Amino acid sequence: MSDTALLSTTDRRAATDSPLLGVLADRWSPRGFDADASIDEVKLASALEAARWSPSANNSQPWRFIVARRGTGEFDSIVLNLRGFNREWAERAGALVVAVAETETADGTPVHFAAYDLGQAMAHFSVQAHHDGLHVHQMGGIEREGLSAAFGLESRFVPLTVTAVGTLGGVESLSDAVQERESAPRVRRPLAESVVLSA
Ligand SMILES: Cc1cc2nc3c(=O)[nH]c(=O)nc-3n(C[C@H](O)[C@H](O)[C@H](O)COP(=O)(O)O)c2cc1C
Repeated sequence: MSDTALLSTTDRRAATDSPLLGVLADRWSPRGFDADASIDEVKLASALEAARWSPSANNSQPWRFIVARRGTGEFDSIVLNLRGFNREWAERAGALVVAVAETETADGTPVHFAAYDLGQAMAHFSVQAHHDGLHVHQMGGIEREGLSAAFGLESRFVPLTVTAVGTLGGVESLSDAVQERESAPRVRRPLAESVVLSA
């Protein structure tokens, strides 16, 4: 097994300038999933429950989730609608979750915070999952129209991301490009470049 084959959570821990909750410092987005591991249903249920209890504008909860376990036709349909190299590694995850934004209510009223609220729900999903020992990798490189067609979504429901969730595994059988990304340093720009005003 190569050095990059199996990276422990500790190896990928963020070098933070201020103390963080352990789960936030440890969370990272792997591409090496264990293709032999089934998704842990109890942990998946907890992650979805965390998404359910995330805040949203006016408690509108403008999110829908399509959850597919590896080995099902639905999982394969989602894989077919991943772009580029996402398909190569994400097909090994225990489950794929399509995160769908409700962009309009049934009567045609725009839901202005749909994307914001959906993103926050998936953030809570990822933190709960990581806390419980699962790993999560969100993807924007997806075919939105293909997913909408595959699952018969009304036009007011827009798939924004697909999230791979599962057990951490090796990347040794994946392409060199994936292996390199798996071990690339985790970096962020300095906070001072994001906090544009702090009075
Ligand atoms: C909305 C969104 C879209 C993303 N799209 C992709 C993607 O299509 N393919 C991919 O490999 N990673 C994707 N990522 C993962 C990011 O590249 C990753 O979160 C970022 O590099 C920071 O790494 P970290 O999560 O390990 O801290 C996406 C993440 C988010 C939140």
